Amino acid sequence: MLTQAEPPSGAEPPLTVERLCFTWPNGRTALKNCQLAIPRPGLWMLVGSNGSGKSTLLRLIIGLLEPSGGLIRRPERTALVFQNPDHQLLLPSCGSDLQLGLPWDLSPGERSERVEQALEQVGLAGMASRPIHTLSGGQKQRLAIAGALASGAQLLLLDEPTALLDPDSQRGVLELIHGLCTAPEPRLTALWITHRLEELAACDGAALVEQGHAGPWQSGASLRRRLSPLQGGKAGG
Ligand SMILES: Nc1ncnc2c1ncn2[C@@H]1O[C@H](COP(=O)(O)OP(=O)(O)OP(=O)(O)O)[C@@H](O)[C@H]1O
Ligand SMILES: [Mg+2]
Repeated sequence: MLTQAEPPSGAEPPLTVERLCFTWPNGRTALKNCQLAIPRPGLWMLVGSNGSGKSTLLRLIIGLLEPSGGLIRRPERTALVFQNPDHQLLLPSCGSDLQLGLPWDLSPGERSERVEQALEQVGLAGMASRPIHTLSGGQKQRLAIAGALASGAQLLLLDEPTALLDPDSQRGVLELIHGLCTAPEPRLTALWITHRLEELAACDGAALVEQGHAGPWQSGASLRRRLSPLQGGKAGG
C-alpha cells in the first residue's frame, strides 16, 4: 500500500485512488480494487446504498484506516467533515475550536486572522467568541467546514454533511461548499457523500458506489434520473 500526500500542482488531479482494498478485522471486505480519480477541482459526489463502502473509502483517503492494498494520491492538506458536527467540534468557543486545527508555525496575529477569515468564509463572521452549544445544527456544520478551511485543506471529504440538517440549513451548507469549490482561488475540491438525490444537481460529477466499487463519473442529473425510480428513501438502495 502506498499513500502519497502531496500538494497538487498545475493540472495534477486532486485525488487518485487505484486498486484500493480494505477488509475489516471480522473478515468483511468493504472495498475491493476500488478506482476513483477526481480529474479537477470542484464539487464531486458519491451516492450508494447503505453499506456499499462510501464512509470506509473516505476514512481510507484521510488515513484513519490503513488499506490492505492499492494506492491513494491526495493533497497533503485534506480534511474530513462528519455527518454530525458534534463529533468533531471539541473546544467550547468557535474561535478556540478553530485555533486547534491551525498549522503550529503561525504567529498569534496570523492565527487570529486565519480564524476570522475562515469564519467569514462560512458566513459566521465575528462569532469567534460564541459558545459552540449556542449554535444551530447548520451553524455547527459551517464551523466544522471553517475548521477544514483554517487548516488550509485543499481537499474536503464530506460524509453526508447535511443528513441531520433541516431543509434550509441543508441548502445553505450545499451552497456554501458549491461556492467554495467554484471560487477561482484557492482551487478547492470537495468529495461529498449523500443519500439526498436532489443534491446531485449541484455537483460537477457524480459516481455510484456499489459493493465496494465506485462507478464512472457522470452528470449529477443523469445519475439522479437513473436512481430516482429505484429510491425507497436511500440512494442506490
Ligand atoms: N467498524 C466496522 N467493523 C466491521 N465492519 C464495518 C465497520 N464499519 C463498517 N463496516 C462494514 O463495512 C461495509 C461498508 O460500510 P460503510 O460504512 O463504508 O458503508 P456506507 O456506504 O458508508 O453506508 P451508509 O450509507 O449506511 O453510511 C459494510 O458492510 C459495513 O457493515
Ligand atoms: Mg456511511
